[in-house]
Amino acid sequence: MTGIPLTEDLSSGAAVTVVGIDAAGRPAYPGLAEALATAGLVVGAARHLAAVPVPPGCPTVTLGPLTPALDRLRAAVAADEHAVVLASGDPGFFGIVRRLRAAGLPLRVLPAVSSVAAAFARAGLPWDGAAVVTAHGRDPRPALNACRALPAVAVLTAPGAGAAELGAGLVGWSRRLVVAEHLGTADERVTWTTPEDAAGRPWADPHVLLSLAPTAGEPDAGAGVGPMRADNQPAAAPAGGWALPESAYAHRDSMITKAEVRALAVARLRPRLGRLVWDVGAGSGSVGIECALLGAAVIAVERDPAAPVRANAARHGVDVRLVTGHAPEALRGLPDPDAVFVGGGGTDVLAAVAARRPDRVVVTLAALDRVAPAVHLLRAAGYAVEGSQLAAARLADLPGGSLRLAATNPVVVLTGERR
Ligand SMILES: C[S@@+](CC[C@H](N)C(=O)[O-])C[C@H]1O[C@@H](n2cnc3c(N)ncnc32)[C@H](O)[C@@H]1O
Repeated sequence: MTGIPLTEDLSSGAAVTVVGIDAAGRPAYPGLAEALATAGLVVGAARHLAAVPVPPGCPTVTLGPLTPALDRLRAAVAADEHAVVLASGDPGFFGIVRRLRAAGLPLRVLPAVSSVAAAFARAGLPWDGAAVVTAHGRDPRPALNACRALPAVAVLTAPGAGAAELGAGLVGWSRRLVVAEHLGTADERVTWTTPEDAAGRPWADPHVLLSLAPTAGEPDAGAGVGPMRADNQPAAAPAGGWALPESAYAHRDSMITKAEVRALAVARLRPRLGRLVWDVGAGSGSVGIECALLGAAVIAVERDPAAPVRANAARHGVDVRLVTGHAPEALRGLPDPDAVFVGGGGTDVLAAVAARRPDRVVVTLAALDRVAPAVHLLRAAGYAVEGSQLAAARLADLPGGSLRLAATNPVVVLTGERR
């Protein structure tokens, strides 16, 4: 939960109007003049206060530090006075709206064009799908590593964590950089450069850095590496990893796919943002939950109403839709999946799954007599099938400090890939 209410009535009482100053350089938001005319307080950075016609005599607070400004804004709201906060671009996008909301202030937001949109526009580039990261007020290494990993990244910079520092960190990577300084002002400058060049020059704040890799169909910009994937979607690797130990899930008896088997099953399902995975015979829900951690939408189907799928999903902070019922009947009416994990159920379940034509089907089987029928069924349904038996032996302690191997039950993992 974000704590953001679903609806908010600002029709009565004072609100703080947050107005974006346009990085595209157009005239200010049309509502700005009206907001300023009734303002009893205007808050903003010195450059923003200087850029708008603050009514004579209206008190102002210059940012810098936010705490004194928040105190003044709270006092204004309590006194039923209208306050205006000036901010850059879209104040809801990597901007001051987050802090003002966290302070509990009632807000109206009048957004302008974000510096990121303006920078891509100045470069004449599309930016849907570009990753936007910030090096503002934090360790810049995650932003730098995003630039190293992805073909199109915009970085909101901060003094000391800008084009020079990030450029230095990108030396050795084949990247073109665009540095967009003072967008929307008379001092605007947009420079196409290389990591080496960017590292050796001073850049004016504020600026946005675009980091662009040669992608398929484009000429290589320099270092002789091949084109990168055009798909800019970062692999949504969960911060806590996946193929987690069984102790990371509430489960009963052996009703959980073991970590070693889960690692292969999840890899074969190829979960990612934009895909739907069914976890049929979900048990603890661990396979579906790990698919959800990797960005997929997931439906878990489980006949036991006491199975802890919901509790496990909540523990890992993912949204898994639970359908309680018997497969194959329970599968009827569900939206078509991209991939299905069948951890429980018989041949009838597998047949119903194959009939929905997912791109991939992954089946785990402990009973050997079920392997051949499952392979034949999937092949007959038009799937290329491969399989392997996994038998992990885990390290375990022996008295006296020795170690032994403790066998886990062998499992056959089948993967059907639609031909
Ligand atoms: C806290 S973020 C605010 C982003 C803002 N909400 C937006 O939509 O543009 C501050 C960073 O935005 C970028 N920025 C804001 N205004 C800019 C401008 N006029 N020209 C270039 N970069 C700007 C800089 O990277 C700056 O360090």
